[in-house]
Amino acid sequence: MVAVLKALDEGGAMSDARRLIRVCARDDVESGAMLQVSLAGLPALAVYRLGEEFYCTDDLCTHGAASLSDEGDLNGYVIECTWHEGKFDIRTGQPCSLPCTVALKTYPVVLQDEEVFIEIAEAG
Ligand code: FES
Repeated sequence: MVAVLKALDEGGAMSDARRLIRVCARDDVESGAMLQVSLAGLPALAVYRLGEEFYCTDDLCTHGAASLSDEGDLNGYVIECTWHEGKFDIRTGQPCSLPCTVALKTYPVVLQDEEVFIEIAEAG
């Protein structure tokens, strides 16, 4: 499911077009767990659930080619890549332990009913 949102700026003009892309259902991810999602046109994604909070990042560790959803260890808001023990904050993507120094790309998450979406900026 894809929806297009148009945000109105203060002057009422259209700006900041965003697409909502469904990544999974809420119940597809247990609290404290993560799910790898593959969608056409996007890199592999990792969707994380902590209670009723959901976060989404690229799935591949920026240090190597480890899949964080497969090889990672989620502790609160921190995903540890078990290949070399690098860590990232899933809320911001920022690395918080060496050897990881490059941030993970993060995606804003929107919850609608029982579905989980991410926002993607429209190209052009
Ligand atoms: Fe993830 Fe090295 S591949 S820390």
